[in-house]
Amino acid sequence: MKVTLITGASSGIGEAFARRLAEEGHNLVLVARSEEKLSALCDELKAEHGITAHFIAIDLVDFEADRRLFQETERHGLEVDWLINNAGFGSMGDFAALDLERELEMINLNICALVALTHRYLQGMRERKSGTIINVSSAAGFQPIPFMATYAATKAFVTSFSEAIAEENRPFGVQVLALCPGSTDTNFFKNSNIDRMISVKGQQTVDDVVETALNAADGKRSKIVSGWTNYLVATATNFVPNSLITRVMGKGLRSRYQNTK
Ligand SMILES: NC(=O)c1ccc[n+]([C@@H]2O[C@H](COP(=O)([O-])OP(=O)(O)OC[C@H]3O[C@@H](n4cnc5c(N)ncnc54)[C@H](OP(=O)(O)O)[C@@H]3O)[C@@H](O)[C@H]2O)c1
Repeated sequence: MKVTLITGASSGIGEAFARRLAEEGHNLVLVARSEEKLSALCDELKAEHGITAHFIAIDLVDFEADRRLFQETERHGLEVDWLINNAGFGSMGDFAALDLERELEMINLNICALVALTHRYLQGMRERKSGTIINVSSAAGFQPIPFMATYAATKAFVTSFSEAIAEENRPFGVQVLALCPGSTDTNFFKNSNIDRMISVKGQQTVDDVVETALNAADGKRSKIVSGWTNYLVATATNFVPNSLITRVMGKGLRSRYQNTK
């Protein structure tokens, strides 16, 4: 059975993808740690839309979680035709003062799990000559961000990696799309222990972000920024040196996170 696998489907953007794609008749595999939320969402979407929905409660930071997840879908004969690598979190503060374990977990989730799941499910997509992979990156990845250094760098990786493999996989009929939302109304800031929302101009809704992604899932594009103002800022970063961007952003945040006196 063909399915769409969504990581981080228990809340926010991932949950919105699940709701929207269920409406469109996709059979789903929902992944996150919160078993109860996933189970309730599966029951609701099955009842409302007559689709098949499975859930796998797993911590994607755990060693070999990607392998266990892949084996589970194989064991149930689920053919992952759409993969949405969405699970992720961030952090904010003076890098030297942040908890190292948490920073490394972020790299494991935002980068390693995404790369591993992409690699595992790409093989079947290439054989079948069809597939869609949406890697949820961020507008934060368009420039280095002082006091959000690790998170911005993980998202720079996601965008660069996704655009590169999009080109590699074009001849195989597989679309890889980096989705770059700006600030979006979810639990992200709370879950990332960020006490101050960063946004260019207000927040988008999860439905705005999902709509943008699905419009771009046309087989052609490799990157999409959600929201016009986010797009303009992302484009502007091409013309301003990183040294100036980091100086200005660092100045704005330093007094909050460092005592340099
Ligand atoms: N909100 C924004 O402003 C914004 C902007 C740009 C990009 N993004 C990106 O959008 C993606 C989704 O974030 P969101 O805004 O929807 O935030 P969210 O509401 O906090 O959702 C994060 C999702 O990831 C899951 N998750 C977290 N740690 C996990 C782990 N170790 N293993 C498995 N699943 C895990 C969470 O579920 P459990 O807790 O149940 O595991 C949850 O379903 C992230 O990649 C984020 O970087 C967000």
